Amino acid sequence: MNMRVPPGEETLPARARWRRWVDSTSVQRTLRLWSGTFIFVFLFMHLANHALGVFGLAVLDVVQTWRWALWNNAVGLSLLYGAFAVHVLLGLWRIAGRKTFRIPLDEALQIASGLIIPFFLLPHIIGTRVAMTWEGQGHGFYGPVLAALWSKKALWQSFLVTLAWFHGVLGLYITFRHRPWFPRFRPFGEAIAIGLPLLALAGFIAGGREALHLQVAFPMSPQAMHNMLQLEFTLQLAYLGLGLLGLLLIVVLNIQFLRRKFGARLTITYRGRGPVKVPRGTSILESSRIHGIPHPAVCRGKGRCSTCRIQILSDLDGLPEPNTVERATLDRIGAPPNVRLACQVQPDRDVSVSILVPLLGRAQDSETSAEAERWAAEREVTILVVDVRAFEVLVGAQQPYELSALVNRLALELEQAVHNHSGVVSSFEGDHLVAFFDAERPRLGARHAVACVKDIARLLKTLNREMGGALPLPVRVGIGIHSGRVTLARVGEIEARSRLMAFGEIVRSAVALQDATKSMLTDCIISKTTARLAQLDRANLRSVTIDVEGLDVPIAAYAVSDLKAIKVGARQDVAEAETP
Ligand code: FES
Repeated sequence: MNMRVPPGEETLPARARWRRWVDSTSVQRTLRLWSGTFIFVFLFMHLANHALGVFGLAVLDVVQTWRWALWNNAVGLSLLYGAFAVHVLLGLWRIAGRKTFRIPLDEALQIASGLIIPFFLLPHIIGTRVAMTWEGQGHGFYGPVLAALWSKKALWQSFLVTLAWFHGVLGLYITFRHRPWFPRFRPFGEAIAIGLPLLALAGFIAGGREALHLQVAFPMSPQAMHNMLQLEFTLQLAYLGLGLLGLLLIVVLNIQFLRRKFGARLTITYRGRGPVKVPRGTSILESSRIHGIPHPAVCRGKGRCSTCRIQILSDLDGLPEPNTVERATLDRIGAPPNVRLACQVQPDRDVSVSILVPLLGRAQDSETSAEAERWAAEREVTILVVDVRAFEVLVGAQQPYELSALVNRLALELEQAVHNHSGVVSSFEGDHLVAFFDAERPRLGARHAVACVKDIARLLKTLNREMGGALPLPVRVGIGIHSGRVTLARVGEIEARSRLMAFGEIVRSAVALQDATKSMLTDCIISKTTARLAQLDRANLRSVTIDVEGLDVPIAAYAVSDLKAIKVGARQDVAEAETP
């Protein structure tokens, strides 16, 4: 981990810089994530081992031997216990540092489950250490353990497994749900998240019943009894330590509460809402939460999504410089100097701000993250832009009724073609349609968009045949297609009547490709990105490059003169390529 010096801190003494670095939330978050992931891998293997209980105690013991070869040595145990200590301590540190507990439900559940787990886990760890002393006495490992657990602690054990797994899965979900690959991985992840603990439970039941049937007895040798007594004592000590840690947490939370109540405070003035008082060291997002001010925060204050961004209306001097996470996000969105991330800025003097991204949806006073996510998200899609050629000429020569019939027919047919290929119409304005395809599997989306173009060619042929006599010239369209990452946002006050619209550079580029069809005297231009994703047969396509305003590099594309001649790769290839 490199200790990067954030701008403005070059003049701080090395010790102060080191302290800031250690204190910075990004370092703590990284350590918490890695330690948690390490424990999760251990838990995954543990549950997978249990799942094999359906094949009998012998299989359980064989797999256990392999697993222990990996974990039960000085390195494995040090890493595991180290990860556990780091994860627990940083988790407690984070809880103790919270300025408010007005947090989303899933985050609250994660904290609560994390606090409960150690109480259930300690007897399990210590009991397992006892059982390890039985090995080599002709009992195997799992037989006596399952016999003991099955008769006395089956429910306790099942609850522990479910709780620990739930905590890990929820943590991974909260951390990774905004990553571009997450939607594709999600079905696979959900299958594991639900399936593995169920299989482990099945293995536990099967193994427990077998152990009871075989009447595996506790080894009651004097040495085993001595070990048990010793470990019983260790368990009591561990509970005592845990109790003290809990007490310490309560004391710290109370001190925090008193400091908030009676310590130094500053004023944050929100445009349109007025001033609020908060303790020093409170981030602006925390301040919004404390005072119930609607403030979107899709990534839950991790500094990645930028939805919490604010404009600083007062003097910028004296505000702490952006940390590395904030700097990277601000650079990514090209934010001017007076725009900051509310989740990262902790002002140390009075400040006036304006929340830049409004919270959409009806639940204005409720917790905001899930709401904001439902109303805006970034996704990989293929954008299709269709523009009706010479529309003014077409409609200018029509009587009102004929005009209405033509526009409605066009709208119906084009929207139907999009829906037939699982697309979503983002906007339609008489002669101009923008649609997007498949926000979860980009390859399939590209393929659907291209297939939709072929349908549009067919429907235009039919429409011209049926209405040709009443039209001054045949209906023709120009089409642009491009794939990439866009922002999908719901537009409209009420969710039921809102429309999902696509925004961003990829949409602008698809519009530019469509525009270029006029100057290039062709019907359709498909970007090479889409062509590759859809596995387009490119043998007879003309390679072109299109300049897009605001982009430094032109877009490489193919001009298609005959829409019906477009050929895509075999469906099976695409399905395989989509499989995570
Ligand atoms: S909440 Fe996502 S960047 Fe602040």
